[in-house]
Amino acid sequence: GTNAEFAPFEYINDDGECDGFDIGLIKAILSEAGYDCEVVNMEFKSLIGSLTTGGIDVTIAGMTITDERKQSVDFSTPYYTATQCIIVPIGSDITSLDDLNGRKVAVQEGTTGDLIVTPSDTNEIITDKNTVVKQFKKASDATVELLNGGVDAVVIDSSPAKKIVAANESKLTCFNDTSEEEYAIACRKGSDLAAKINELMDGMKADGSLQALADKYSLTLAE
Ligand code: ARG
Repeated sequence: GTNAEFAPFEYINDDGECDGFDIGLIKAILSEAGYDCEVVNMEFKSLIGSLTTGGIDVTIAGMTITDERKQSVDFSTPYYTATQCIIVPIGSDITSLDDLNGRKVAVQEGTTGDLIVTPSDTNEIITDKNTVVKQFKKASDATVELLNGGVDAVVIDSSPAKKIVAANESKLTCFNDTSEEEYAIACRKGSDLAAKINELMDGMKADGSLQALADKYSLTLAE
C-alpha cells in the first residue's frame, strides 16, 4: 500500500503506474523474498487501517516512524532521514515554524506535517487556536492552494518540498525548522515480514543497490 502523491518516493508516472524510490525498494525486497508484489494506491491516512485489517500486507509511503504509529504497526529499520519543510511565497514574512501561529497552513491529511501545525493540547509550538489548517488528500492540491493565496504556507517533508519549489522557483521558497524524522516500511504487528525486510534491506545497503536506487530517483540518502 502506498499513496502516490509524494515524489520522488512515490508518484504516478507517465504510463499511469506507481513509480518512485519506495516502489523500487519494496519491489526489490519482496521479489528477493520470493513474493509477488501488487502496489495499491490509496489515501495516506487510510494506509495504517488497511494494514491492520489485512487489505494490504506492507506500507511504504515515505512514512515517518512515530510513537503513535508504532502502537498499530511494526516498522522496519529506517531507510531515509527527513525534516519537515515550510513552503512559502518568495518574500513571505514567515521565517520559522512559530510564525505559523494564527496563519493559514495547508498540509497533506494525516501526515507528520499535519500533526506539527494542527493546534492541540500537546502541540507546544502552534498554540494559537486561530491557526487554520487546511488538510488536502494530495500535496499537489495543497500547493495549488498556496499558489492561489488560499493559505500562507504548506508544511510537507523536505524531499517533496524541494521538488515543489523547483517546479515553482519564481514564486515559492522553503526552509526547514523541525527535528529529523525517519522513514521506514510498516508491516502488520507481529508479522514475520518486518525481520525479513530488515535483513534484505541491510543487504541492499551493504551491496550498494539502495544507493543505486536513490541515484535513479535523484534522491540524496543522507541529507
Ligand atoms: N513522512 C510523512 C508522514 O509519515 C509524510 C508522508 C506522506 N507520504 C505519502 N506517500 N503521501 O506522515
